[in-house]
Amino acid sequence: MIYAGIYIHIPFCNVKCMYCDFYSISDKNSDIPDFIKALTYEIEHCSIDTSKWIFDTIFIGGGTPSLIKENHMEKILSCMHKKFNLTQVKELTIEVNPGEAPKDRLKAFHQMGINRLSMGVQSFQPELLKFLTRMHGRDEIFETYDNIRWAGFQNVNCDLIYSIPGQTKKMWEDDLKSIINLDPEHISAYTLTAEKGTELFSLISEGQIKMPRNSQIGSWFTRTHEVLLKNGYSGYEISNFSKERFECMHNLHYWNIEPYLAFGPSAHGFDGIFRWNNARSLKTYMELIMAGKSPISTREKLASMDKTNEIIGFGMRMLKGINLKNLPTTHLEKCKVNFEIIMEKYPNCIERKAKNYSFTNKGLLFADQIIPDLLI
Ligand SMILES: C[S@@+](CC[C@H](N)C(=O)[O-])C[C@H]1O[C@@H](n2cnc3c(N)ncnc32)[C@H](O)[C@@H]1O
Ligand code: SF4
Repeated sequence: MIYAGIYIHIPFCNVKCMYCDFYSISDKNSDIPDFIKALTYEIEHCSIDTSKWIFDTIFIGGGTPSLIKENHMEKILSCMHKKFNLTQVKELTIEVNPGEAPKDRLKAFHQMGINRLSMGVQSFQPELLKFLTRMHGRDEIFETYDNIRWAGFQNVNCDLIYSIPGQTKKMWEDDLKSIINLDPEHISAYTLTAEKGTELFSLISEGQIKMPRNSQIGSWFTRTHEVLLKNGYSGYEISNFSKERFECMHNLHYWNIEPYLAFGPSAHGFDGIFRWNNARSLKTYMELIMAGKSPISTREKLASMDKTNEIIGFGMRMLKGINLKNLPTTHLEKCKVNFEIIMEKYPNCIERKAKNYSFTNKGLLFADQIIPDLLI
């Protein structure tokens, strides 16, 4: 038997944030009832053999899943309960946006068995929230957080973003203080990335704004790890920090290359052999499902070399690193030689203990540069 997760993608948002590359649409909330019909149909007709899997996590992400009303959320959950054995699920997460998650809805979600909340705080600085085109201000963060606790959630994550144009080190340190004062169980701190197709990317390309320099990002990254660790949050992955025993179990499925089902437009799944992607368009997704067709747009067998590279790529982002015994034997020797070469190229960046390789603190700083070199 193997532990597995389920991901559900809710693509609706009230506004499209200027930096966001996730599949989300901002003017289609009226399609929610039809989307729920398509989504539940997709779940009911899932034909993947999961007989050897034990589902222990579910993640309802987006988009803005907190826009989904109680009766619709109940439909999604009861449909999943009918289809799969969910008795072993330990972690059921939903993403919410500050100011877009009514108090009573949060309570109802908790009563339905959702036991982990992930709130997209991003920043506490009004001018940065404005720059990021977030709908919420600082007050909504505190208000929604209080409501989350009031509703009964005892496992809460807050997402933060740093290295934003116009952000000073003092602003970031204040954000870290504010989040520590809120006292969530888990914190994700991402550096802002500019993906092609986003408004942020266009602004940079047109020279209207400049992203912070790499050296600045590096020093803030180190400071983030120091401050959070000092306050009880250990960084178990490059951008993820938690109190003891509050690591995100669902994300660990991704990073440990374990299977997960995926439902909703743009969602991607993995069954241990194949990776697949659903259509990245709500319209196409709904049309395919309503025509009785599969919403999958791409499906690809993970070759042994791809699997090796995924184990290295995801594994080295975790503090525990990777153990050679988990790599496919076909590429083991090549990987070993490569690790030795890279350890010489980047001194004091990778630590080896028996068959385990992991980044040192210095190595974590250069992980994005070193990891591509480690791939075979
Ligand atoms: C796709 S969002 C969904 C959650 C929710 N809608 C929200 O905005 O808070 C999940 C998280 O991804 C992160 N994220 C999205 N785009 C990003 C980017 N370009 N750079 C860094 N982090 C990003 C944000 O921290 C966000 O909270
Ligand atoms: S960051 Fe969140 S709220 Fe903003 S567009 Fe992306 S999914 Fe929607």
